[in-house]
Amino acid sequence: MAQNRTPLRYPGGKQKLTPFVLEILKANNLEGGHYVEPYAGGAGVAMELLIAGNVSHVHLNDSSFPIYAFWNSVLTHSEEFCRRISRSLLNIEEWREHREIMKNPMNHSELDVGFSTFYLNRTNRSGVLSAGVIGGNDQSGKWKIDARFPRNELIRRIELIAGFHDSISLLNTDAEKVITDYIPTLPENTLIYCDPPYFEKASTLYLNHYAPGDHERISQIIQQQQRDKKWIVSYDGVNQILKYYEFRRKFLYELQYNAAKAYKGSEVFIFSDNLVVPRSSELPYISVALKANSRKLHQPAELAKLAMREAKFNSAKQLVCQQ
Ligand SMILES: C[S@@+](CC[C@H](N)C(=O)[O-])C[C@H]1O[C@@H](n2cnc3c(N)ncnc32)[C@H](O)[C@@H]1O
Repeated sequence: MAQNRTPLRYPGGKQKLTPFVLEILKANNLEGGHYVEPYAGGAGVAMELLIAGNVSHVHLNDSSFPIYAFWNSVLTHSEEFCRRISRSLLNIEEWREHREIMKNPMNHSELDVGFSTFYLNRTNRSGVLSAGVIGGNDQSGKWKIDARFPRNELIRRIELIAGFHDSISLLNTDAEKVITDYIPTLPENTLIYCDPPYFEKASTLYLNHYAPGDHERISQIIQQQQRDKKWIVSYDGVNQILKYYEFRRKFLYELQYNAAKAYKGSEVFIFSDNLVVPRSSELPYISVALKANSRKLHQPAELAKLAMREAKFNSAKQLVCQQ
Protein backbone atom coordinates (compact mmCIF):
# COMPACT_ATOMS: atom_id res chain seq x y z
CA MET A 1 0.00 0.00 0.00
CA ALA A 2 1.44 3.38 -1.05
CA GLN A 3 2.34 5.87 1.66
CA ASN A 4 1.46 9.51 1.50
CA ARG A 5 4.76 11.33 1.06
CA THR A 6 3.76 14.88 0.27
CA PRO A 7 3.12 17.26 3.17
CA LEU A 8 0.49 19.13 1.09
CA ARG A 9 -3.16 18.27 0.67
CA TYR A 10 -3.83 19.01 -2.94
CA PRO A 11 -7.18 19.37 -4.68
CA GLY A 12 -6.95 17.04 -7.67
CA GLY A 13 -3.69 15.63 -6.25
CA LYS A 14 -2.52 12.63 -8.25
CA GLN A 15 -0.65 10.75 -5.49
CA LYS A 16 -2.97 7.76 -5.79
CA LEU A 17 -1.95 7.33 -9.44
CA THR A 18 1.68 6.68 -8.49
CA PRO A 19 1.44 2.89 -9.06
CA PHE A 20 0.29 3.52 -12.63
CA VAL A 21 3.07 6.04 -13.29
CA LEU A 22 5.53 3.48 -11.97
CA GLU A 23 4.05 0.89 -14.33
CA ILE A 24 4.65 3.34 -17.20
CA LEU A 25 8.26 3.88 -16.08
CA LYS A 26 8.82 0.11 -16.01
CA ALA A 27 7.16 -0.58 -19.36
CA ASN A 28 9.47 2.02 -20.96
CA ASN A 29 12.75 1.21 -19.20
CA LEU A 30 12.73 4.61 -17.53
CA GLU A 31 13.22 3.40 -13.97
CA GLY A 32 16.19 5.13 -12.33
CA GLY A 33 15.92 8.08 -14.72
CA HIS A 34 14.68 11.63 -14.35
CA TYR A 35 11.08 12.67 -13.78
CA VAL A 36 9.55 16.10 -14.45
CA GLU A 37 6.31 17.75 -13.35
CA PRO A 38 5.84 21.16 -15.02
CA TYR A 39 2.66 21.62 -12.87
CA ALA A 40 3.92 20.17 -9.60
CA GLY A 41 1.40 21.34 -6.96
CA GLY A 42 1.64 18.85 -4.09
CA ALA A 43 4.03 16.68 -6.16
CA GLY A 44 2.69 13.53 -4.51
CA VAL A 45 3.67 11.23 -7.39
CA ALA A 46 7.16 12.72 -7.67
CA MET A 47 7.87 12.39 -3.95
CA GLU A 48 6.70 8.82 -3.78
CA LEU A 49 8.76 7.76 -6.83
CA LEU A 50 11.88 9.54 -5.58
CA ILE A 51 11.71 8.26 -2.01
CA ALA A 52 11.05 4.69 -3.20
CA GLY A 53 14.12 4.93 -5.48
CA ASN A 54 12.11 4.47 -8.69
CA VAL A 55 13.62 7.64 -10.21
CA SER A 56 16.97 9.27 -9.48
CA HIS A 57 16.08 12.94 -9.89
CA VAL A 58 12.86 14.94 -9.93
CA HIS A 59 12.33 18.37 -11.50
CA LEU A 60 9.37 20.27 -10.05
CA ASN A 61 7.90 23.47 -11.40
CA ASP A 62 4.89 25.48 -10.34
CA SER A 63 4.14 29.02 -11.47
CA SER A 64 2.47 29.78 -8.14
CA PHE A 65 4.99 31.58 -5.92
CA PRO A 66 3.42 30.35 -2.62
CA ILE A 67 3.72 26.73 -3.78
CA TYR A 68 7.32 27.27 -4.88
CA ALA A 69 8.08 29.08 -1.58
CA PHE A 70 6.72 26.08 0.30
CA TRP A 71 8.91 23.57 -1.55
CA ASN A 72 12.01 25.73 -1.46
CA SER A 73 11.59 26.38 2.27
CA VAL A 74 11.26 22.66 2.92
CA LEU A 75 14.49 22.00 1.01
CA THR A 76 16.58 24.92 2.22
CA HIS A 77 15.21 25.63 5.75
CA SER A 78 13.88 22.25 6.79
CA GLU A 79 14.93 22.52 10.46
CA GLU A 80 13.32 25.92 10.94
CA PHE A 81 10.27 24.74 9.01
CA CYS A 82 9.82 21.75 11.32
CA ARG A 83 10.38 23.96 14.38
CA ARG A 84 7.53 26.15 13.17
CA ILE A 85 5.29 23.11 12.75
CA SER A 86 5.98 22.10 16.37
CA ARG A 87 5.38 25.57 17.74
CA SER A 88 2.52 26.88 15.64
CA LEU A 89 -0.78 27.43 17.38
CA LEU A 90 -3.80 25.94 15.74
CA ASN A 91 -6.30 28.69 16.41
CA ILE A 92 -8.19 31.35 14.44
CA GLU A 93 -5.86 34.14 15.51
CA GLU A 94 -2.82 32.45 14.03
CA TRP A 95 -4.82 31.32 10.98
CA ARG A 96 -5.67 35.01 10.32
CA GLU A 97 -1.99 35.97 10.58
CA HIS A 98 -1.08 33.40 7.92
CA ARG A 99 -3.93 34.58 5.73
CA GLU A 100 -2.58 38.13 5.98
CA ILE A 101 0.89 36.97 4.91
CA MET A 102 -0.66 35.26 1.90
CA LYS A 103 -2.49 38.44 0.93
CA ASN A 104 0.81 40.35 0.64
CA PRO A 105 3.48 37.73 0.01
CA MET A 106 5.97 40.24 -1.38
CA ASN A 107 6.20 41.96 2.04
CA HIS A 108 7.40 38.75 3.71
CA SER A 109 10.34 36.37 3.53
CA GLU A 110 10.13 33.30 1.30
CA LEU A 111 10.17 31.10 4.40
CA ASP A 112 7.22 33.00 5.91
CA VAL A 113 5.24 32.65 2.69
CA GLY A 114 6.22 28.98 2.36
CA PHE A 115 5.13 28.25 5.91
CA SER A 116 1.87 30.20 5.63
CA THR A 117 1.07 28.30 2.42
CA PHE A 118 1.58 25.06 4.28
CA TYR A 119 -0.39 26.22 7.36
CA LEU A 120 -3.40 27.30 5.29
CA ASN A 121 -3.17 24.21 3.10
CA ARG A 122 -3.46 22.03 6.21
CA THR A 123 -6.12 24.08 8.01
CA ASN A 124 -8.42 25.20 5.15
CA ARG A 125 -11.27 23.19 3.77
CA SER A 126 -10.08 20.67 1.13
CA GLY A 127 -6.60 22.22 1.21
CA VAL A 128 -7.79 25.11 -0.98
CA LEU A 129 -5.69 28.20 -0.19
CA SER A 130 -8.50 30.63 -0.86
CA ALA A 131 -11.13 28.64 1.08
CA GLY A 132 -12.30 29.08 4.67
CA VAL A 133 -10.92 27.38 7.76
CA ILE A 134 -12.02 23.84 8.70
CA GLY A 135 -14.76 24.17 11.34
CA GLY A 136 -15.60 27.75 10.37
CA ASN A 137 -14.48 31.04 11.94
CA ASP A 138 -16.43 30.26 15.11
CA GLN A 139 -15.04 26.69 15.16
CA SER A 140 -18.52 25.30 15.61
CA GLY A 141 -18.17 22.61 12.92
CA LYS A 142 -17.72 18.91 13.64
CA TRP A 143 -14.10 19.04 12.47
CA LYS A 144 -11.85 21.75 13.92
CA ILE A 145 -8.84 23.67 12.61
CA ASP A 146 -6.39 20.95 13.74
CA ALA A 147 -8.22 18.06 12.02
CA ARG A 148 -5.64 17.80 9.22
CA PHE A 149 -2.54 18.88 11.09
CA PRO A 150 -0.83 15.78 12.50
CA ARG A 151 2.37 17.56 13.56
CA ASN A 152 4.66 14.57 14.02
CA GLU A 153 3.67 12.92 10.78
CA LEU A 154 4.11 16.18 8.85
CA ILE A 155 7.53 16.76 10.39
CA ARG A 156 8.50 13.20 9.47
CA ARG A 157 7.49 13.76 5.83
CA ILE A 158 9.39 17.03 5.61
CA GLU A 159 12.56 15.60 7.14
CA LEU A 160 12.42 12.67 4.73
CA ILE A 161 12.01 14.94 1.69
CA ALA A 162 14.74 17.33 2.87
CA GLY A 163 17.12 14.35 2.90
CA PHE A 164 16.62 14.12 -0.90
CA HIS A 165 17.59 17.76 -1.34
CA ASP A 166 20.29 16.99 -3.93
CA SER A 167 17.88 14.97 -6.07
CA ILE A 168 15.22 17.66 -6.42
CA SER A 169 15.39 20.64 -8.79
CA LEU A 170 12.82 23.37 -8.23
CA LEU A 171 11.56 25.98 -10.67
CA ASN A 172 9.01 28.78 -10.36
CA THR A 173 8.08 29.71 -13.88
CA ASP A 174 5.46 29.13 -16.54
CA ALA A 175 5.07 25.51 -17.62
CA GLU A 176 5.40 26.66 -21.22
CA LYS A 177 8.92 27.89 -20.52
CA VAL A 178 9.80 24.65 -18.77
CA ILE A 179 8.67 22.66 -21.81
CA THR A 180 10.39 24.84 -24.40
CA ASP A 181 13.64 25.75 -22.58
CA TYR A 182 14.31 23.41 -19.66
CA ILE A 183 13.12 19.95 -20.66
CA PRO A 184 15.28 19.84 -23.83
CA THR A 185 18.36 19.97 -21.53
CA LEU A 186 17.35 16.82 -19.61
CA PRO A 187 18.69 13.32 -20.28
CA GLU A 188 16.93 10.91 -22.63
CA ASN A 189 15.67 8.64 -19.86
CA THR A 190 13.23 11.26 -18.58
CA LEU A 191 9.48 10.94 -18.09
CA ILE A 192 7.42 14.14 -18.18
CA TYR A 193 4.10 14.19 -16.37
CA CYS A 194 1.93 17.23 -17.18
CA ASP A 195 -1.04 17.68 -14.88
CA PRO A 196 -2.34 21.14 -15.83
CA PRO A 197 -5.07 22.90 -13.85
CA TYR A 198 -8.45 21.36 -14.61
CA PHE A 199 -10.33 22.73 -17.62
CA GLU A 200 -13.41 23.13 -15.44
CA LYS A 201 -13.46 24.27 -11.79
CA ALA A 202 -9.74 25.19 -11.65
CA SER A 203 -10.41 28.82 -10.76
CA THR A 204 -11.99 27.71 -7.48
CA LEU A 205 -9.18 25.28 -6.62
CA TYR A 206 -5.85 26.93 -7.48
CA LEU A 207 -4.40 30.42 -7.24
CA ASN A 208 -2.98 29.97 -10.75
CA HIS A 209 -5.14 28.57 -13.51
CA TYR A 210 -5.68 28.82 -17.27
CA ALA A 211 -8.25 30.62 -19.41
CA PRO A 212 -9.93 28.34 -22.01
CA GLY A 213 -7.63 29.46 -24.86
CA ASP A 214 -4.53 28.64 -22.77
CA HIS A 215 -5.50 24.96 -22.60
CA GLU A 216 -5.52 24.70 -26.37
CA ARG A 217 -2.22 26.58 -26.72
CA ILE A 218 -0.47 24.44 -24.12
CA SER A 219 -1.83 21.27 -25.74
CA GLN A 220 -0.09 22.29 -28.97
CA ILE A 221 3.13 23.09 -27.14
CA ILE A 222 3.11 19.75 -25.31
CA GLN A 223 2.48 17.82 -28.53
CA GLN A 224 4.76 19.78 -30.86
CA GLN A 225 7.71 20.74 -28.67
CA GLN A 226 7.97 17.33 -27.08
CA ARG A 227 7.65 15.14 -30.18
CA ASP A 228 10.77 13.15 -29.31
CA LYS A 229 10.13 13.18 -25.52
CA LYS A 230 8.26 10.68 -23.40
CA TRP A 231 5.32 12.34 -21.75
CA ILE A 232 1.93 11.76 -20.18
CA VAL A 233 -0.84 14.27 -19.54
CA SER A 234 -3.81 14.02 -17.20
CA TYR A 235 -6.90 16.22 -17.27
CA ASP A 236 -10.59 16.33 -16.59
CA GLY A 237 -12.08 14.43 -19.51
CA VAL A 238 -14.13 17.21 -21.06
CA ASN A 239 -14.83 17.26 -24.80
CA GLN A 240 -12.58 20.25 -25.48
CA ILE A 241 -9.55 18.45 -23.99
CA LEU A 242 -10.33 15.26 -25.91
CA LYS A 243 -10.42 17.35 -29.07
CA TYR A 244 -7.10 19.15 -28.38
CA TYR A 245 -5.44 15.72 -28.05
CA GLU A 246 -7.50 13.94 -30.70
CA PHE A 247 -4.49 12.44 -32.48
CA ARG A 248 -2.92 10.94 -29.34
CA ARG A 249 -3.70 7.67 -27.60
CA LYS A 250 -5.73 8.22 -24.44
CA PHE A 251 -8.29 6.68 -22.11
CA LEU A 252 -10.96 7.98 -19.78
CA TYR A 253 -11.28 6.72 -16.22
CA GLU A 254 -13.13 7.54 -13.04
CA LEU A 255 -11.13 8.99 -10.16
CA GLN A 256 -12.79 9.97 -6.93
CA TYR A 257 -11.30 13.19 -5.65
CA ASN A 258 -12.32 15.29 -2.73
CA ALA A 259 -12.87 19.01 -3.04
CA ALA A 260 -15.45 19.75 -0.37
CA LYS A 261 -18.09 17.56 -1.99
CA ALA A 262 -16.71 14.27 -3.22
CA TYR A 263 -17.10 14.67 -6.97
CA LYS A 264 -16.92 11.71 -9.25
CA GLY A 265 -15.68 12.89 -12.59
CA SER A 266 -14.28 11.47 -15.75
CA GLU A 267 -10.57 12.03 -16.08
CA VAL A 268 -8.36 11.37 -19.06
CA PHE A 269 -4.80 10.09 -19.43
CA ILE A 270 -3.00 10.96 -22.67
CA PHE A 271 0.25 9.41 -23.97
CA SER A 272 3.06 10.52 -26.25
CA ASP A 273 3.30 8.32 -29.37
CA ASN A 274 6.65 6.83 -28.32
CA LEU A 275 5.43 5.46 -24.97
CA VAL A 276 4.54 1.84 -24.36
CA VAL A 277 1.24 1.85 -22.46
CA PRO A 278 0.96 -0.89 -19.81
CA ARG A 279 -1.72 -3.52 -20.54
CA SER A 280 -3.02 -3.68 -16.98
CA SER A 281 -2.52 -1.92 -13.68
CA GLU A 282 -2.58 -2.75 -10.00
CA LEU A 283 -5.11 0.10 -9.72
CA PRO A 284 -8.46 -1.54 -10.51
CA TYR A 285 -10.06 1.63 -11.96
CA ILE A 286 -7.11 2.08 -14.33
CA SER A 287 -6.98 -1.59 -15.25
CA VAL A 288 -10.64 -1.60 -16.27
CA ALA A 289 -10.06 1.43 -18.51
CA LEU A 290 -6.86 -0.05 -20.02
CA LYS A 291 -8.65 -3.25 -20.95
CA ALA A 292 -11.67 -1.45 -22.36
CA ASN A 293 -9.36 0.62 -24.62
CA SER A 294 -6.85 -2.12 -25.33
CA ARG A 295 -7.12 -2.02 -29.14
CA LYS A 296 -6.72 1.76 -29.35
CA LEU A 297 -3.83 1.85 -26.88
CA HIS A 298 -1.74 -1.11 -27.95
CA GLN A 299 -2.04 -1.75 -31.67
CA PRO A 300 0.65 -0.09 -33.81
CA ALA A 301 -1.96 0.09 -36.60
CA GLU A 302 -4.05 2.41 -34.43
CA LEU A 303 -1.05 4.67 -33.85
CA ALA A 304 -0.36 4.75 -37.59
CA LYS A 305 -4.03 5.62 -38.24
CA LEU A 306 -3.89 8.54 -35.80
CA ALA A 307 -0.65 9.81 -37.35
CA MET A 308 -2.20 9.65 -40.82
CA ARG A 309 -5.29 11.58 -39.67
CA GLU A 310 -3.05 14.17 -38.03
CA ALA A 311 -1.01 14.59 -41.22
CA LYS A 312 -4.22 15.06 -43.26
CA PHE A 313 -5.53 17.54 -40.69
CA ASN A 314 -2.27 19.53 -40.82
CA SER A 315 -2.17 19.73 -44.60
CA ALA A 316 -5.85 20.80 -44.71
CA LYS A 317 -5.02 23.49 -42.14
CA GLN A 318 -2.07 24.67 -44.24
CA LEU A 319 -4.29 24.90 -47.31
CA VAL A 320 -6.82 27.06 -45.44
CA CYS A 321 -4.00 29.31 -44.19
CA GLN A 322 -2.65 29.78 -47.73
CA GLN A 323 -6.06 30.72 -49.17
C1 LIG B 1 -3.81 20.02 -11.13
S1 LIG B 1 -2.68 20.94 -10.15
C2 LIG B 1 -1.32 19.84 -10.03
C3 LIG B 1 -1.54 18.80 -8.98
C4 LIG B 1 -0.37 17.88 -8.81
N1 LIG B 1 -0.20 17.00 -9.95
C5 LIG B 1 -0.52 17.08 -7.54
O1 LIG B 1 -0.63 15.85 -7.62
O2 LIG B 1 -0.54 17.67 -6.47
C6 LIG B 1 -2.08 22.17 -11.26
C7 LIG B 1 -0.97 23.05 -10.73
O3 LIG B 1 -0.50 23.85 -11.82
C8 LIG B 1 -0.12 25.13 -11.32
N2 LIG B 1 -0.16 26.04 -12.47
C9 LIG B 1 -1.23 26.73 -12.97
N3 LIG B 1 -0.89 27.40 -14.09
C10 LIG B 1 0.42 27.13 -14.32
C11 LIG B 1 1.36 27.50 -15.32
N4 LIG B 1 1.00 28.31 -16.33
N5 LIG B 1 2.62 27.03 -15.26
C12 LIG B 1 2.99 26.22 -14.24
N6 LIG B 1 2.15 25.84 -13.24
C13 LIG B 1 0.88 26.26 -13.28
C14 LIG B 1 -1.10 25.43 -10.21
O4 LIG B 1 -0.52 26.33 -9.30
C15 LIG B 1 -1.34 24.02 -9.61
O5 LIG B 1 -0.48 23.81 -8.53
